[in-house]
Amino acid sequence: MSRNRISIVGAGNVGATCAHWAAAKELGDIVLVDVVEGVPQGKALDLMEAGPVEGFDCMLSGTNDYEDTVGSDVAVITAGIARKPGMSRDDLVSINVKIVQQAAAEIARYSPDAIIIVVTNPLDVMCSAALKASGFPSDRVFGMSGILDSARLRTFLALELGISFEDVTTLVLGGHGDHMVPLVRYTYAGGIPVEKLLPRDRLDALVQRTRLGGAEIVEYLKTGSAYYAPGAAVVQMLEAVLKDKRRLLPCAAYLRGQYGHRDVYAGVPTVIGAEGVERIIELDLTKEEQAAFDRSVASVRAVLDKLDL
Ligand code: NAI
Ligand code: 2OP
Repeated sequence: MSRNRISIVGAGNVGATCAHWAAAKELGDIVLVDVVEGVPQGKALDLMEAGPVEGFDCMLSGTNDYEDTVGSDVAVITAGIARKPGMSRDDLVSINVKIVQQAAAEIARYSPDAIIIVVTNPLDVMCSAALKASGFPSDRVFGMSGILDSARLRTFLALELGISFEDVTTLVLGGHGDHMVPLVRYTYAGGIPVEKLLPRDRLDALVQRTRLGGAEIVEYLKTGSAYYAPGAAVVQMLEAVLKDKRRLLPCAAYLRGQYGHRDVYAGVPTVIGAEGVERIIELDLTKEEQAAFDRSVASVRAVLDKLDL
């Protein structure tokens, strides 16, 4: 049986962290691709040399040439620039769109059957860029956002309640921006609705902290944005695809009328398996939740409409 082949474009903070956790879980052989000469090669070799100590068997290689990604099962696109303090995710668009278009086209050229997971920001818009540039069907091009945003809310709630992180489940939908839609009504701690455990003002404060969760890390780091939780979130998606787990996860998926929107990417509950996005689950939203979702998608469209994809 041949091993899975994973390509990670962008050997920076998110790309390398993703490779680290994917290797630790033995999800497959990993190729790191970057424009900077030496960095993907050095990081791949360094990580592979951790194999004997950590006890994982994965081949890792680094390259500046997409030809080396040939036959990938999954490609993760993290290439691009990240936020600095004071920048929004949307400020990155003009530089990152060209990088993502090139990465997606090259992946499609060498791995025509691959699944593409987009990470580069602004996430939902970059998914549209990757979709068009790859020419792939939309079920094979989707983005990482909701797992990360939900993980942040889960973390804040667990800390507030003094319980295990594992026991909090939630769902953050919409675009991966300041208008994201954390659904408190669908948030549970050990099966108990959190609305029964915390007062409204505390819940509102934690929701707001989640919306600004990316900026909170940027303010601390100053030279870049988050990568440990993002890397872990990507690896959960990789595992869902490569093990055909059919995980029900919030991901940025291409909408074709679901939630009242069409031809745009936004975070929704999806079933992720070997075929990519196998299903989008449509929930009943209240009027307020739907309005928040619409506002979030409108902010994605405002950036998308400025691009000539
Ligand atoms: P980073 O700056 O550490 O790494 C980016 C890497 O991309 C660098 O190594 C750079 O050399 C490489 N790169 C630039 N142009 C390239 C090209 N044309 N081809 C191949 N590689 C190229 O940045 P980091 O922290 O890894 O973030 C990467 C992206 O992911 C950013 O746009 C960031 O905003 C986004 N991000 C998205 C998240 C999400 O939830 N969707 C979470 C965290 C980061
Ligand atoms: C985050 O939410 C930068 O989008 C990234 O941390």
